[in-house]
Amino acid sequence: MAAQAYQKCINLRCGAEFDRMEVLFECPRCGDLLDVRYPWDRLAVPRKLSDFSKKWAQRNNPLNFSGVWRFAELLPFCEKKYRVTIGEGQTVLQRSDDLAAELGMRPGALYLQYEGLNPSGSFKDNGMTAAYSYAKMVGAAASACASTGNTSASMALYSHSCGLKATVFIGEGKIAFGKLSQAMDYGAYTLQIAGDFDDCMRQVQEVCRKLKIYLVNSLNPFRLEGQKTIMFRILEQLGWETPDWIIVPGGNLGNSSSFGKAFAELAELGLINRIPRLAVINAAGANTLSELVNERGLRWNGGNVDQEMIADYYAELDSRNNRANTIASAIEISRPVNLKKCLRALEVCKGVALAVSDEEILDAKAQIGKYGLGCEPASASTIAGLKHLLADGIVGPDQRVACVLTGHLLKDPNVTVNYHSQMARPFSNPPVQVPNDLDKIISLIKA
Ligand code: F0G
Repeated sequence: MAAQAYQKCINLRCGAEFDRMEVLFECPRCGDLLDVRYPWDRLAVPRKLSDFSKKWAQRNNPLNFSGVWRFAELLPFCEKKYRVTIGEGQTVLQRSDDLAAELGMRPGALYLQYEGLNPSGSFKDNGMTAAYSYAKMVGAAASACASTGNTSASMALYSHSCGLKATVFIGEGKIAFGKLSQAMDYGAYTLQIAGDFDDCMRQVQEVCRKLKIYLVNSLNPFRLEGQKTIMFRILEQLGWETPDWIIVPGGNLGNSSSFGKAFAELAELGLINRIPRLAVINAAGANTLSELVNERGLRWNGGNVDQEMIADYYAELDSRNNRANTIASAIEISRPVNLKKCLRALEVCKGVALAVSDEEILDAKAQIGKYGLGCEPASASTIAGLKHLLADGIVGPDQRVACVLTGHLLKDPNVTVNYHSQMARPFSNPPVQVPNDLDKIISLIKA
């Protein structure tokens, strides 16, 4: 039999292994998170990353056009015949010298990885193409997710393209309209729970356990395999050079976890000789990661994570009835399901976590927009975080930084319009009122 991927519990005290065909989103023995693992020595992996460049010449094959499946050898969990694609991963790494100058960085130091260009307008498509390829391989019939919006938009799109039923759990009043409109239009069965994302996440897991529905949240280890390719594409667009820093928003912590896994594997395979540092940015109103890491000293600790510290913190949140609260609704999450994997990523990448205020997020969003790459609020936490990292001397002005802009501006137009027309912040650009009179219009345009 060919060498196969398998699943492995990340908890060192457990470490249980499971066949790739067992549909799981948690370790059946201890309840911890699962990884997808590969017997690399028995698989065909390119000897150097630049070998992937050849795939681009064969892009008339949709699987080579896909920015995810172009790297299939680095996520070899399913055979070709199961792979689904709708053109995900055609995203650009844009060098942004104007914004760099505004932040006091040298030209060529700042890059924005624009994941808003995906078919559903967010990075989630990188994961969903993998999650639904897996669904096809195991013959799943129904899928579900909890979502702050983008996961539901992406899963609705991919489940539709594979003929799977899709049920979405969203918090009441907690989802930006661009995203909600996608879930509805793509035909997902949408359940609006009287609660927030953390409530939805808890409920959807219970429902999936009871009804054996396939869960496509980032607890799903196969989904995270697809998200590794965001890092492969950054390397690709930098001519296979490693940047000094990757900066990413932190919500449920799936992206940061998958980025850490991507770099750990590339290093293990000898495909890179340097691992970039990772900065994960929380919103101040949803700052579980930065609070636990910076204030309480929580670490991966070689796999011996202090579970009690996490439980105590969540109990504390409950006792204060403290709910996540931020304008960046995509990352309005207090109980990130991938917390432990993210701690591992921080260790692999000598990473840092920090939190930024809603005002900082909105100002950064307008600065990004001014130079032509509109993004949604959560994505702008990266630039808001970068400002702190530069001010604190953690990132040097000469270092090469890639910020992942996770979602498109049009996902959440209300926030943007409100910022520009109502908030009078430093980068607000309000519309000017003018009577329906040609001379007056011209006088304003000349002014
Ligand atoms: N940015 C955007 C635009 C998102 O939609 C999300 C997560 C994140 C960042 C955070 O990423 O969870 O990997 O740390 N959105 C999820 C959703 C939770 O339901 O759409 P993460």
